[in-house]
Amino acid sequence: MAALGMGALIALSAAMPATAEPADDTLVIDDLEMTVRATPPEGHPLDEVLSGWLFREAETRELEADSFQNPGMLYVDRGADIWNTVEGTMGKSCASCHDDAAETMKGIAANYPKWDADAGRPINIELQIDKCRVENMGAEAYKFDHADQKALTTYIKHQSLGKPVALDLAQGELQSWWDRGKEIYYRRTGQLNFACASCHEANSGQYIRADHLSQGQVNGFPTYRLKQADMVSLHNRFRGCIRDTRAEFPKAFSDELMALEVYVTWRGTGLSVETPAVRQ
Ligand code: HEC
Ligand code: HEC
Repeated sequence: MAALGMGALIALSAAMPATAEPADDTLVIDDLEMTVRATPPEGHPLDEVLSGWLFREAETRELEADSFQNPGMLYVDRGADIWNTVEGTMGKSCASCHDDAAETMKGIAANYPKWDADAGRPINIELQIDKCRVENMGAEAYKFDHADQKALTTYIKHQSLGKPVALDLAQGELQSWWDRGKEIYYRRTGQLNFACASCHEANSGQYIRADHLSQGQVNGFPTYRLKQADMVSLHNRFRGCIRDTRAEFPKAFSDELMALEVYVTWRGTGLSVETPAVRQ
């Protein structure tokens, strides 16, 4: 249903192109100025890297700028509670080993995904949390998109608020995952024959329904979506975008989506971590 609407509207917007410039606005959160426009690294396909925040309506932008109003901050609070809660057979909490997250987790998430030598694949914050739960706490890995997984991920990423996204592709085999992610990003799939790039590169700035198409950056995840009145994880968003093209969507944390996470995160190099961002 939704995909049908989107196809029809893309045809419509081809007939009547509606384009709007991203907002000419600056984002300051808790007295920290965010980098919402960044100069791309060498070999980047875009002239300027833009935060999705610039493509949202004024009210949505204001919600994100005000930590007291931002509904995503409730998940940060919940994440802080989980951080201090003992779970699992070893009688430990995250804080038992990592103390005060404001110090030990500061800036960490801006450099994820990292290479995980033990697993021989990239690791994101969700998987790192699971790794610590299983190996260091004797607790179970979270089910994908469990509310606690989203809250703890949001909490950890929030400790990097304002820090510029920067991946070290020289780690392990991260470069080959970037290559694979790039291939997926430009690959057309589904009945509508769209690639990520069809919308977020070729048509960024255009409207699909009421949605002003952004560059599809990931620096605000998990993000609070007003439409769903809930936090949305990155792999959930990826799957939603793939589903809208009427293609089969891969599992969360599958090789395919991890490769995409590596590549798309790189496309946002230099943007500030905005977690929890607010989106429509
Ligand atoms: C028994 C000790 C222990 C517990 C409990 C523990 N961890 Fe860890 N954690 C580690 C070790 C050891 C590492 C890997 C070495 C390092 O980076 O400090 C690590 C690494 C991490 C990292 C990556 C840090 C980086 O520099 O990339 C994150 C994020 C993390 N843990 C989060 C958590 C969370 C969230 C919890 C609770 C669910 C938790 N940890 C529980 C010991 C622990
Ligand atoms: C048919 C068009 C379309 C395609 C194809 C598409 N998306 Fe999206 N995507 C959207 C729309 C619409 C939104 C919501 C408005 C916005 O932020 O651009 C969105 C949002 C996003 C966001 C959230 C941006 C933010 O700032 O919160 C990410 C990340 C994203 N898409 C990634 C992808 C990836 C990766 C692919 C390919 C697997 C993809 N999208 C394919 C239409 C598309």
